[in-house]
Formats: sequence, structure tokens, C-alpha cells
Amino acid sequence: MYIFKAAVVGAGTMGGGLAQVISFSGLPVVLKDVDQKMLDKGMETIRKIYQSRVEKGKMSAGEMESKMALVEPTLTYDGFSDVDIVIEAVPEKMKIKKQVLADLDAVLPETAIIASNTSALSISEMAAATKRPSKVVGMHFFNPAHVMKLVEIIPGLETSQETLDDVVAFAESLRKIAVVVQECPGFLVNRLLMPYLNEATYCLQEGAATATEIDAAVVEFGMPMGPFTLMDMLGIDVCQYVGDYLYDEYGLRMAPAPFFYKLVEAGRLGEKNGKGFYGYGGETDEPVKALIAAHGRDPKSEFTIERVMYPMINEAIIALQEHISAGNDVDMAMIAGTGMTYHGDRKGPLAIADEIGLDVLLSGMEKLFAQYGERFRPARLLRTKVRAGHLGVKAHRGFHEYA
Ligand SMILES: NC(=O)c1ccc[n+]([C@@H]2O[C@H](COP(=O)([O-])OP(=O)(O)OC[C@H]3O[C@@H](n4cnc5c(N)ncnc54)[C@H](O)[C@@H]3O)[C@@H](O)[C@H]2O)c1
Repeated sequence: MYIFKAAVVGAGTMGGGLAQVISFSGLPVVLKDVDQKMLDKGMETIRKIYQSRVEKGKMSAGEMESKMALVEPTLTYDGFSDVDIVIEAVPEKMKIKKQVLADLDAVLPETAIIASNTSALSISEMAAATKRPSKVVGMHFFNPAHVMKLVEIIPGLETSQETLDDVVAFAESLRKIAVVVQECPGFLVNRLLMPYLNEATYCLQEGAATATEIDAAVVEFGMPMGPFTLMDMLGIDVCQYVGDYLYDEYGLRMAPAPFFYKLVEAGRLGEKNGKGFYGYGGETDEPVKALIAAHGRDPKSEFTIERVMYPMINEAIIALQEHISAGNDVDMAMIAGTGMTYHGDRKGPLAIADEIGLDVLLSGMEKLFAQYGERFRPARLLRTKVRAGHLGVKAHRGFHEYA
């Protein structure tokens, strides 16, 4: 299917960036909101992104104006009758999403694709609000949309192969890396990130190390930033919400650190209000240290880099075992979605497991399991690989093959 015109619904944090990315590819895009102020803000975001390219000498002022002219801001569905694909980026509430999808279903051509930028909600449930479930799909872009390369493409139960192929091609035409992820809570990147962020938070609350020490060790390991810096950026309230949701869905291995609630109760939401794990502006992290002191040092708790990184690697193996994505895609998604590296090379969690050695990883997980319980139960597929002698790079085969 050729895409001649696109639309974005919701001009908030994600919507503005998405409309910029689409217009940058040369495609006309309608940007719709229900709130004139948000629409203006969305247009301002787009202009700012282009402006910064002009200032860096990456485009001329004339080119900027011609790209801006491709974006049509609106409060109505009037411009939607010839749109080929819509990405909805309205608030993360199923009720709102279903209403927007039903409205879109009524105004769009029958052939148009409806993509949702949801971070977590069920694509299949949303699709059921339309008469075109085969044309509904998830397109999970990351924030900021104009910078982050990854798009997780999530088919719902009834999404057709044609729709899937079309949105992969569309994402690639936007110069993004498209990874197909089967529908599951947290999709791929957030599902794998959460156990790691959670474990770092357990280490902190138990007094095993400070946030600065843990962040530094994780950066040394190869992540572009430490877990506490990242959580402050994401919002601790958002992490708590996602943590609760994944716990509900996956059970004990995702049991969230109680410290998330303590911080949110104390009004420490992250960078957005100047105080999270760290303090920003005039704020300090003294209240966090006081909360840790009040919790008391847990003498059995130790911080090691394995304790923080292995839950992410193990979750990658469980996702592979569940056929959520192909092995190469799991690694690609984590590299593009988080910027992770290992020993200076861009490597995802499965390639890292191969480097570590699957037998070493398994025995490390078993020790951690004995010490801390369910959060470290080794993935079944990890045991199977070790039993079969697929130990990673040293055995020339593990999750990948090596010459
Ligand atoms: N913010 C992020 O970091 C991030 C990252 C990835 C995905 N997402 C997902 O993207 C979606 C949007 O998130 P956001 O952070 O941009 O939200 P936001 O609150 O910043 O923006 C939502 C916008 O939708 C508008 N809106 C509300 N109801 C509408 C309707 N019926 N029709 C049209 N517009 C409507 C609001 O006025 C607002 O401008 C959510 O599903 C979220 O989970 C967000």
C-alpha cells in the first residue's frame, strides 16, 4: 500500500515529535488535538526541532518552511477522508483510545491503517472498538520521537500480514528501526528494562550501594546512563505505574521495590518536579538518603553488577522463549531502544549472555535466586541451552551462532 498522507491524533509529548518525523520524510501530515493550546504547543515543538537543524546547518530556513507547510494542525476530523495511516498518541487510557479509534473508523477511508503509539495497552482490545481490526496495529515510538531510532511494531490478534508489512515499510521510510514484537505487557523494551530498574532500586533501598555508585557501575558495564538517572528522566510515578502493571501480569519475578511508592508518596517524581532519586536545581537527595537510613541496612543485600544486569538478560531469554521477537530483533530493539553496549561494542542482552557464557550466567542466576528468590529464577530456555552445550561464544553457539 502506498502512503500519500498521514495523520497524528494527540499533539502532546509524543504527537508533536511524530508529526515532525513524518513531515521530515516528505509526507503531508494532519496533526489533530482536542485542545487548541496543546495543538499550538505541538506545532511549536515541531518548529523547534526544525529550527535546531537550521542552527546546526543541517537544513536551510527555506527547507524548514517547506517541511512545516506539510503539517496541517486541526481540531476536527475534516482532513481525514484521504488519510492512509493514522498514529494515535492520545493519553494512555483505554477508554479514550477506544473512543478515538471508533471516531477514526467512521471518518477514515476503509483501507486506512490505524496505529496506536500505546506504551502498554492491548492492541487487540483497541482494535475491537473498530470495524477494521485487521488494519489496527501498535507502533510504539520512543521519547523523544525525533531522536530515538526504535519503533516496536505490535500486531494484535487480528492484524493482517499486509498491515504489518505496510507499517514496517512506513517506519523504515521514516528512517526508524522497526522491530516486530508480539503483544505482551510492556512489549519488549519496557518489559526488559523494568526488572533491571527494579533490581537497582532494591539495591538502593537495602543500602547495598548509593545511587551514584550503582549508576557509575552500570555506565561502566555499557549502558549509556545509569538506572537512577534514567528513572528520574522517565518519571518515578511512571516507573511505579509500569512496575505495578508488569507485576500484575508477570507475577513475582517483577515484584516492584517498595521504594517506588515511598518516593512517589514523598512527592519525588523525578526531573519533571526537580526531585527524584537525585535533586535538581535547588533540591538535594538528602530526603532519599533519609528514607534509605529509615529502611535500615539489609546485611544480606549486596550490590553487584550481575545482580542488576542479569534480570534484564534473563527476561530477554524468557521473551525469546515465548516467541515475542526473534533473537536478533530482541538484541536490535535493546540496542536501538536503550543504546546499550558491552566492552565497547553495540550488543543486546542475548549477545551479552553469549559473551558471558551461558553456564556462567546460569550459575550466577542460581546463586542470586538462592539469595533473593523469584526475581532471579533462571529462564527455562537458559537451562536447556546449557544442557545442550550451547554455552555462547566459547562454544560457537548460544543465542547466536559464531564462526
Ligand atoms: N511520553 C512518553 O515518554 C511516551 C513514550 C512512548 C509512548 N507514549 C505513549 O504515547 C501516547 C501519548 O503520550 P504523551 O506522553 O504524548 O501524552 P500527552 O498527555 O503529552 O499528550 C496527549 C495529547 O492528546 C490530546 N488528546 C486527549 N484526548 C484527545 C482526543 N480525544 N483526540 C485528540 N487528542 C486528544 C491531549 O490534549 C494531549 O495533547 C500514550 O499512549 C503514551 O503511553 C508516551
